[in-house]
Amino acid sequence: MFATDFAQQPIETFFPEDMFHPRHYVAVRKPVMEAGTLPNWCYTSERFYRREVERIFMKVWNFVDRVDRIPNPGDYFTFDYVGVPVIIMRGKDGVVRAFSNSCRHRGSRLVEGEGNCKAIRCPYHGWTYATEGNLLVAAEMEDALGFDKSKLGLVPIRLETWGGFIFINFDNDAISLREYLGDLVDNTEAYNLDDLVCVRRNAVELPINWKLFFENFAEQYHIPYLHGGSLNRQKRQMHPPEDTHGQYEALYVKHPGSRMLLMGDTGFPPIEGINGRAAEGTFYPSLYPSTSIGMCIDGMWWVRTDPLGPHKSRLTIGFCFPRRTAARADFDDVIQRYYKRMDAVFPEDTAACELQQRGLMSPFHRAGRIGRLEILVHRINNWVLDRVIGNQA
Ligand code: FES
Ligand SMILES: [Fe+2]
Repeated sequence: MFATDFAQQPIETFFPEDMFHPRHYVAVRKPVMEAGTLPNWCYTSERFYRREVERIFMKVWNFVDRVDRIPNPGDYFTFDYVGVPVIIMRGKDGVVRAFSNSCRHRGSRLVEGEGNCKAIRCPYHGWTYATEGNLLVAAEMEDALGFDKSKLGLVPIRLETWGGFIFINFDNDAISLREYLGDLVDNTEAYNLDDLVCVRRNAVELPINWKLFFENFAEQYHIPYLHGGSLNRQKRQMHPPEDTHGQYEALYVKHPGSRMLLMGDTGFPPIEGINGRAAEGTFYPSLYPSTSIGMCIDGMWWVRTDPLGPHKSRLTIGFCFPRRTAARADFDDVIQRYYKRMDAVFPEDTAACELQQRGLMSPFHRAGRIGRLEILVHRINNWVLDRVIGNQA
């Protein structure tokens, strides 16, 4: 019912003129057990959102998809991320690269959707680029003085990969992906992430701010209330957040079985060679700025929240399993149990986020308090403020 209702708009004039002044965030900056929530304009205001795009999404490593989406030379997919048109393409040389999806002649958007190509040909005047990005053909340009094809390749965007995840960064001065991720790399070694393939991905556009789902995934407070019917196996337990070093937060929950299944269902065998605590529970990393991952003994699911505006986001959810699991004869049958779990629980979370967004739209909303089961919400809020407001507060 709510998904198509984009009519409600906040009244920007209700928000303080000096919304970026640290005085508005004193409560959020307090130690967690004294802390308040973010003011509602952080989830609703166009001005706040634009500052997030500029200072967060244009500066950090953004997860875009898994490398197995483009396994073959010439495979590509396109998307717009915070207004930037992007092509991700595997060259004939096997290397995955990102480019600005705009022609070096007079700027036309070059390709749509996804597919496989031998070269990219601009629909406007036919300039043609190799899968590695260099300009191959530009007809009728021989007499343009000093025209140098070698200087007119597609504009590259920084791209790095880790564990099969593709990340892009619009900032040429940013630190490396490895440095950005910090100890997440070592902490997830047991999952053999490079071997996981994505067997389903679904995208949905929702009238919510990007932070709402990211925060929802990182707290356990709502579980007995919102998921009482679907995830009733989960006892109320306190799981202290992990001590992380890198641009992510994480929770670890020790339990038997796989959290990708509903209680009583059996699934696939564990990831080959999984060991240590990875073999005894679930690891939930929340990667800044907006990727939420559940790593289980048998596979992984991820949710990427792309911001489309202050109160509009696109959520993409992907399921990944080891190659051996995906090749099993019973895969198509057994995987249904995994989808059943996710298709029951995920809409409960997104519906809650939609209600929260609608409540936050009220000009009479006043900031609330954070509890002990929401420590990561507090950390996420402060991570955002460190970038949007500055950490001098
Ligand atoms: S804009 Fe692409 S060839 Fe002219
Ligand atoms: Fe939830």
